[in-house]
Amino acid sequence: MRAVDDVIRQRLYSDVALVRQVAEYIIQSGGKRLRPVLLLLCAGAAGYKGPHHHALAAVVEFIHTATLLHDDVVDESHLRRGNATANSVFGNAASVLVGDFLYSRAFQMMVSVDNMRVMQVLADATNIIAEGEVLQLMNCHDPEVDEGRYLQVIRYKTAKLFEASARLGGILGALPAEQEEALAEYGMRLGTAFQLVDDVLDYSGDQAETGKNVGDDLAEGKPTLPLIYVMANGSADQAAVVRRAIEQGGAGELDAVVKAIRETGALDFARRRAKAEAEAACAAIASLTSSIYKDSLIELADFAVTRNH
Ligand code: IPE
Ligand code: IPE
Ligand code: MG
Ligand code: MG
Repeated sequence: MRAVDDVIRQRLYSDVALVRQVAEYIIQSGGKRLRPVLLLLCAGAAGYKGPHHHALAAVVEFIHTATLLHDDVVDESHLRRGNATANSVFGNAASVLVGDFLYSRAFQMMVSVDNMRVMQVLADATNIIAEGEVLQLMNCHDPEVDEGRYLQVIRYKTAKLFEASARLGGILGALPAEQEEALAEYGMRLGTAFQLVDDVLDYSGDQAETGKNVGDDLAEGKPTLPLIYVMANGSADQAAVVRRAIEQGGAGELDAVVKAIRETGALDFARRRAKAEAEAACAAIASLTSSIYKDSLIELADFAVTRNH
């Protein structure tokens, strides 16, 4: 991971001062670096010994960071990684444009690996992520969104990049197709669990731990699983509170919505769903040869579910 950080620092460079300033601002503020971790672990599990895993790990982190710059503009979020978001500090225009810089820098780095399958996986993943964010936009303020439509959004916007990161490890290690698929499925399930919990933390997280504001999803009228659960399983009054809050957006109803969520056990339900995804992730890689990498992948699945940050 230190080597990955070196690549990130070197490849962040631009002659354009504002690009450097915004890109460094978000990258220096940290983040869990989960997607690079995943790629390195999967490359390790696949027995890869070559030179390209650090560059590709930096590529997936750049793509992730680009999506965060764009996402905070779209979500009108003001806190990220414990700091004011880039859009709050530098404005929406700079955030969108530097997001584009990071995306395209990621693609420059990817091309240098000179492997058509690698390029295919990343081209497809970024395209799906964009579709996921647009699907989510279409779902905002729509209380009819059900679990199926919600799951599609999170598979696209979040799980796809986890899937790609895991699959790339397998491709680097030249695994047989079946084992590459096993890693890809692990990544997809892990990413789904991860976003399920992210959506739980948006109602219950501690700002000091998540580094993000609570209530951003509701403000936007985002129908996430805790809300879908209350509408399907709460009393008529509880369902009505949530329905109205989704339709109207804004943070005005946050207290009433959090109360309905707590009373119905919606967060426990969502965490249980995340746990089932994490278990399916581990089951997908059960047949891979034992290694310290595989052990860490199993630990990572547990972290995705129990995390508070
Ligand atoms: C945030 O991802 C966006 C989601 C997909 C939920 P992370 O929680 O991995 O963000 P950082 O990189 O650790 O800040
Ligand atoms: C994840 O969704 C966004 C991307 C995958 C780009 P969220 O909107 O829930 O992420 P946070 O909560 O802002 O980190
Ligand atoms: Mg967001
Ligand atoms: Mg979120």
